[in-house]
Amino acid sequence: MEELMRDLFLFLSKNRLLTKLAKRYGLRFGASRFVAGETISQAVEVIKDLNRKGLAVTIDYLGEFVDSEAEAFTMADNTIEAIHLIGREELNSQLSLKLTSMGLDISNQVVLKNMRRILNAAKQNNVFVTIDMEDFTRCQKTIDLFKQLKLEYHHVGTVIQAYLYRSEKDIEDLNEYSPNLRLVKGAYKEPVEVAFPEKTDVDENFKKIIKMHLLNGNYTAVATHDDAIIEYTKNLVKEYSIPNDLFEFQMLYGIRPERQLDLVNEGYKTRVYVPYGTDWYGYFMRRLAERPANVTFVLKGILKK
Ligand code: FDA
Repeated sequence: MEELMRDLFLFLSKNRLLTKLAKRYGLRFGASRFVAGETISQAVEVIKDLNRKGLAVTIDYLGEFVDSEAEAFTMADNTIEAIHLIGREELNSQLSLKLTSMGLDISNQVVLKNMRRILNAAKQNNVFVTIDMEDFTRCQKTIDLFKQLKLEYHHVGTVIQAYLYRSEKDIEDLNEYSPNLRLVKGAYKEPVEVAFPEKTDVDENFKKIIKMHLLNGNYTAVATHDDAIIEYTKNLVKEYSIPNDLFEFQMLYGIRPERQLDLVNEGYKTRVYVPYGTDWYGYFMRRLAERPANVTFVLKGILKK
């Protein structure tokens, strides 16, 4: 049943009509639990609150289905606006983005042009940029573009998904770039030809790549809400005397907020991924797919209206 629900939400996350309707009718139905608001000023208030609690942030201006060069250009403009605001307001925040929203599906030329604009603004404002990893069909392209940009800019990183068979090899290949990587389990529906179908295998591979990347001496963001993986990381850094400034934990806004604060109080650098923008629908559906029990929150939200 859980698997069916997961598939359903991942299917719904790709629906253009529902995305349009969601944009029109605003941040309702419980999505505000996971999304910081529709405007940058709402997001800034959320970031300030998290910073006050000792949590670092990475902000994401949400955007799905970007098909034209003009749309990608506007996405990049909005992202640059967020970067300048981080600098001006001296927020403890990095930035995350998806290459599809910068024109990945249009052409390499478009995506590179937008990424260079963004990375120049980020450099000016001392903001680190993480390129999120999307579905498998875009994985190689994303890694190739990341490599190209990493040769030009220091303050850029990307994401490796533990559910992919290729992830171990990617960690090995990327080592020569000394990359700052976020490691995650993986959020998309992938076929068995490319991804471990069993959760236990994903978890074991997650541990394996965390260990590889940390022991390679590279900065590692362990992005998970899973206590077993968090404990594994804590024990690993203790065992190998890995300093606290070589790794951090990351979690999503609205998911296990009390655990986020526990980690801060234990002295671990912890970063919250804060999405905002009108295009919140696909992101919200992927969060429901990870944990169909969250539907209860949605239903409560609807009943309250
Ligand atoms: P798992 O799914 O096993 O969950 C462990 C426990 O955490 C659950 O039992 C539950 O208690 C809690 N939990 C997990 N998800 C929850 C939810 N939605 N609601 C409520 N509780 C929940 N993926 C990707 O493919 N590309 C990317 O670029 C990123 N980027 C990214 C950034 C950050 C900061 C995070 C934390 C995650 C991502 N992800 C991602 C998503 C990631 O791949 C994965 O889908 C989710 O983190 C869920 O997996 P967990 O590791 O939390 O474990």
